[in-house]
Amino acid sequence: MNLKMLAAYEAGDEIKDGQIIGLGTGSTTHYFIEKIGMRIQEEGISVMGVPTSYQSFILAKQWKIPLTTLEEHDVDIAVDGADEIDPDFNLIKGGGGAHTLEKIVDYSAEELIIIADDSKKVNKLGKFPVPLEIIHQSTKLVFDSLKDMGGEPKIRMATEKDGPVISDNGNFIIDVNFGEIDNPIQLEKDLNSIPGVVENGIFSQMVDKVILGTSNGVEVLK
Ligand code: A5P
Repeated sequence: MNLKMLAAYEAGDEIKDGQIIGLGTGSTTHYFIEKIGMRIQEEGISVMGVPTSYQSFILAKQWKIPLTTLEEHDVDIAVDGADEIDPDFNLIKGGGGAHTLEKIVDYSAEELIIIADDSKKVNKLGKFPVPLEIIHQSTKLVFDSLKDMGGEPKIRMATEKDGPVISDNGNFIIDVNFGEIDNPIQLEKDLNSIPGVVENGIFSQMVDKVILGTSNGVEVLK
C-alpha cells in the first residue's frame, strides 16, 4: 500500500453508517472514494457523497456512491487532500484546480479531515505556490495587485490542450509564488479581496484532524 492509500483507507474506515460525506479531489482522495465504494459493496453502509469536482463526481459514480448536494443535505464529514500542511493545520490546496468547490464543501462540513502522505507536512507554507481561481477578464488587475503584494503570479497552462487550464467552473487558474508565508490567515483574506478572484487555495482555521501516511504507518494529528 502506498502512503496516500494508507492515509485514505484509514479515513475511509472512520466513516460511519448514515453519514453525508464531502468527497475531496486529487490523487489521495481518489483512494478514499475507492474505500467508501468498497465499504458500500462489502459492508452495505448507507452514505451519501457531495463531490468537490468533476473528478470526484465521476469517481463516486464509478463506485456507485449515492450523491447529494449542499442544498439537500448538511455535510457531516469532509475528507480532502492538501498540497502543504503547516503545524497549525493551515493548508495550501488547489494543485488540481478544484479548491473553490473544495473550500465550499469543506467549510460546510461539521468535521474536516485532511489526508496526505507525510511529504505534505511543512514548517511554513509557501514552497508550493498558492493557486487562485480568477475570472479571466480580471487577469491584469489581479496580476498587478499580486505583484504589489510581493507575489509572482503565473497562469497555469494546460498540458493536453493549448492555452490555459480552465477550471470546472470555467475560470483561469493562476499560481502565485509568495515565498514563505508568515501569516496565512491574513493572506487568505487579502487574496479574496482582489476583484476577480473567485477563491484562493489557502485554507486556514478549518481542519479538525490530519491523517498522514508515513513509512512507519499512519500518523494522526489533532
Ligand atoms: C485539488 O485541487 C487539490 O486541492 C488537492 O486536494 C490537492 O492538490 C492534493 O492533491 P493530491 O492528493 O493529488 O496530492
